[in-house]
Amino acid sequence: MFDEQLYAYSEAHTTPEIPILSRLNRETHLSQVYPQMLSGHIQGALLRMMSFMIQPARILEIGTFTGYSAINLAAGLFNPEHPGSLHGDDPDGPQITNHNLLHTIEVNPELEEMIRKFIREAGLEDRIILHIGEALEIIPTLNETWDLVFIDADKPNYLNYYEMVLPKLRPGGFLIADNVLWDGKVLDEPGKMDKDTRGITQFNEFVHRDDRVEHVMLPVRDGLMICRKI
Ligand SMILES: C[S@@+](CC[C@H](N)C(=O)[O-])C[C@H]1O[C@@H](n2cnc3c(N)ncnc32)[C@H](O)[C@@H]1O
Repeated sequence: MFDEQLYAYSEAHTTPEIPILSRLNRETHLSQVYPQMLSGHIQGALLRMMSFMIQPARILEIGTFTGYSAINLAAGLFNPEHPGSLHGDDPDGPQITNHNLLHTIEVNPELEEMIRKFIREAGLEDRIILHIGEALEIIPTLNETWDLVFIDADKPNYLNYYEMVLPKLRPGGFLIADNVLWDGKVLDEPGKMDKDTRGITQFNEFVHRDDRVEHVMLPVRDGLMICRKI
């Protein structure tokens, strides 16, 4: 989708990956069959930056894979001791506690050991709660109000995840969905789309008509849909 030289230029002018993330990136490429599922340097840095901007108290991630995006997103969890914190006592902002958390859901139990190892090495064991299982079964058991949700799991369920989490996203909260351009296949003839592409296009069209959110589709990497709940 994106010119490789320009991508390399952008990457060269982005804060380098911290060592734990470059180790995770490398180990994912060495051990996984589809390492390209990992967000990567630029998108990881963008998610991290957005999380720092939002300063969430509760994040939900659907689709952990090896933990790269979870570690980036958790970096921006609201820190009450941080002098530059934006929210202060804002009653409409995240409901701050001293124990702000990211919940992440992964269906593949074979990834658990690697995910936990990197969460531990990142020093985020008390910030990231990993759930192994089907997202559609786990989401309803989480009794939280979300400030930030990242959808990055199976494409046919994107719309189900959106419908399930939107009522629990606080007004003013953000929902980000990855892969909304699906390698350009969203432009295929509707009759020729596979079920993943259909899942993505149904999600994109539904969000675009949904007056509960304002949204922007960013053509970054494989496409990011960013929604703000009104
Ligand atoms: C694209 S990867 C996630 C990448 C990760 N967020 C990152 O940026 O590094 C998608 C992950 O979702 C998981 N997944 C797929 N279907 C799922 C489901 N029904 N429930 C939970 N996780 C699922 C897959 O096993 C895979 O690890």
